[in-house]
Amino acid sequence: MADINRVLVIGATGHVGGQVVSQLAETGVAVRALARKPEAASFAAGVEVAPGDLTQPETLIPALDGVDAVYLTWPLLPAAAADSVVEVIAGRTGRIVLLSSGAVRDDLEKQDNPIGEKHAMVERPIVASGLAWTFLRPYGFATNTLEWAAQTRVGDVVRGAYGAASMTLLHEADIAAVAVRALTTDGHAGARYVLTGSASLRRIDQVAAIGAALGRPLAWEELTREQARRHMDWVPAEYADLVLDGYAAMVDAPGQPTSTVQDVTGSPARTYAQWAVDHAADFA
Ligand SMILES: NC(=O)c1ccc[n+]([C@@H]2O[C@H](COP(=O)([O-])OP(=O)(O)OC[C@H]3O[C@@H](n4cnc5c(N)ncnc54)[C@H](OP(=O)(O)O)[C@@H]3O)[C@@H](O)[C@H]2O)c1
Repeated sequence: MADINRVLVIGATGHVGGQVVSQLAETGVAVRALARKPEAASFAAGVEVAPGDLTQPETLIPALDGVDAVYLTWPLLPAAAADSVVEVIAGRTGRIVLLSSGAVRDDLEKQDNPIGEKHAMVERPIVASGLAWTFLRPYGFATNTLEWAAQTRVGDVVRGAYGAASMTLLHEADIAAVAVRALTTDGHAGARYVLTGSASLRRIDQVAAIGAALGRPLAWEELTREQARRHMDWVPAEYADLVLDGYAAMVDAPGQPTSTVQDVTGSPARTYAQWAVDHAADFA
């Protein structure tokens, strides 16, 4: 059994990292949460907060003191930052779980898309580092649909492109549950876990599920790609077309679920309908 007493969570204020913090705290492991602005972050009682910034790797050194394992969110920084961050972590702890992406392809020497490349550039130094590593490679997060909250808060219509695109959105609690297993139990070193939600659901049906969670019907209004592109301020501009290309492809080829969440945690991945219930307040 692994001797994991303290875990540093990098990206602790994020969607998945926040769940990693709370689920780890429930296991009884000591949790240290990294935050760029510790004074603005709030965590469960007993969670230690440490200041630090991935763009200044030396700021991680005090946060890594006495840490047995690290959960790392990678905010798509340049390759040089990846090398330095991994070097600092590898010199001070033995285990890392990286929130990577399903966009990474092992069959390609050079990744064929910028999101895959941004994650591959941190996977590579980790593999070379001597750390015991686990890569989480999720497909789309259900939290991406929080982009609709601005519309549902003021009306009953959600406008978007590719309403027929069908995808296997993941609940952040399921990604975190896999992370917590990999951080605190043995048998996950060297695994590249491809994670998805439980079933493929069209965007139109995702909106209906939010309506059901709110107790009021919501209508979908189809936009052209160009119209939708103008409102995609929730995604960095350089990735917006990539996201739209992904939606376009999933109209004819729906995302296929994997069983990895269940295989690793023993529980099936939560449904999108459950996610909508858990986030109803965000849409109200
Ligand atoms: N959305 C998807 O469908 C999807 C699919 C596959 C993979 N991913 C990957 O998942 C990751 C995002 O995960 P998430 O949604 O849980 O995160 P998130 O909610 O976007 O939060 C990002 C986290 O990273 C932290 N952070 C940002 N820059 C930092 C820096 N310079 N130093 C230290 N911490 C920093 C933020 O902390 P602050 O509070 O300091 O800002 C925050 O805790 C990305 O790597 C993304 O590519 C996403």
